[in-house]
Amino acid sequence: MNRKKFLSNLGMMGTAAMIAPSMMASSPSVKLINTSGKKIRVGVIGCGSVSAYYLKHLSKCPYAEIVSLCDIIPERAQNRAREYKVNSWYPHIDKMLAGVDFDLFVNLTDMQEHYRLNVIALNSGKHVWSEKPMASTYNEGSELIKLASQKGVRIWGAPVVVNSPQFAFIAKQINEGNFGRISAAHGCYGHLGPSWSSFFYEKLGGSIPDLAVYNITSLTGLLGPAVSVLAMTNIISPTREIDNKGTVKVTEEDNSHILLEHQSGAISHIQSGFNYTMAHSYDSEEISTISIIGTKARMDMIGYDWDPLAVDVATPAIQKMERMATDPGTYVWEEGASVICEFLATGKEPLFSAGHALHAVEIMEASRKSQETGKRIWLKSEFVWPVVT
Ligand SMILES: NC(=O)c1ccc[n+]([C@@H]2O[C@H](COP(=O)([O-])OP(=O)(O)OC[C@H]3O[C@@H](n4cnc5c(N)ncnc54)[C@H](O)[C@@H]3O)[C@@H](O)[C@H]2O)c1
Repeated sequence: MNRKKFLSNLGMMGTAAMIAPSMMASSPSVKLINTSGKKIRVGVIGCGSVSAYYLKHLSKCPYAEIVSLCDIIPERAQNRAREYKVNSWYPHIDKMLAGVDFDLFVNLTDMQEHYRLNVIALNSGKHVWSEKPMASTYNEGSELIKLASQKGVRIWGAPVVVNSPQFAFIAKQINEGNFGRISAAHGCYGHLGPSWSSFFYEKLGGSIPDLAVYNITSLTGLLGPAVSVLAMTNIISPTREIDNKGTVKVTEEDNSHILLEHQSGAISHIQSGFNYTMAHSYDSEEISTISIIGTKARMDMIGYDWDPLAVDVATPAIQKMERMATDPGTYVWEEGASVICEFLATGKEPLFSAGHALHAVEIMEASRKSQETGKRIWLKSEFVWPVVT
């Protein structure tokens, strides 16, 4: 199916996505580092909870060599260095950048620090893989992409939900027109909130960039860029108990409902929060967290979009839900930095892009603006779509 037919299947006649220049900026010119079997040298900043997953994955990646670790709590960097036999560890980004050289900066710090540290790394000529969000505002995110382009490097941001076989399965059904016209979609992701760090509950933390971002990326990845956002957010738990800090005040949303109007006309709804009981384990085959509904089919993603288990399909021909796409493949949510090492070593372009990450940043910022103003917020950004062709 060509793009024209695909767009018309989704009712997109006359509104074909134009790719904004800021989105294109990071794509075409890449300096591939490695053509001779040498591994990509990786520096990881932020040696807290998520680094355990990243370092394990990177340490097994045939394209990566972890050479530098950094944390403002230096013993965390030192402990990870010991665990992964890394010679160089640092207590500050300046010392890290002045120390042993590396190619890819992997940013796993507090959400509020991402933009600032990403700017510093890009300015010193490093490729950047950033945990979500890569920046807190659309302007900051656009600046990062522009800066990367000026420096001849690239930046990418989590999450990598578009890499899962279940995402690919649903995307293929959309591409082949098997949904008919898609009218609606829903995403839901919540838990009781992290207890190990307070930044999740402080300004520019919050459940939207920590949790809703997964569904935002999945649903825009499947249905295409959004044009407007309407949202309600609030704080359900005014205080939290944090392991090393005791009681802290919650100053960013821990409860949100976001409505997205996509270019196709489809409307999707995403709910997320830090006050959701874990009535189901993450590997429960009983829950679906993403639903897509069209004039010819309904599909539910089983499990969470960052760790999906299958897709349930119903059509007028198959009245009962039929389970499909059960093969997990090699996908894991923490693979982003390893996939980038593969790209830098081989040129194999990943499915996820800086443009898509920036679109998610704009939606998240717009959701808060919608809550503040009581208004629908119109979006500027787009990204290269369909993601899976
Ligand atoms: N923990 C998870 O399971 C998980 C999963 C997916 C994504 N994430 C994302 O990963 C990021 C980190 O989350 P986490 O749970 O690992 O938090 P964390 O608090 O456990 O770790 C963050 C680490 O970054 C360090 N840090 C903060 N500012 C720094 C700076 N300026 N320079 C160097 N080090 C600095 C902190 O000292 C801390 O050790 C967040 O964006 C989060 O949304 C976390």
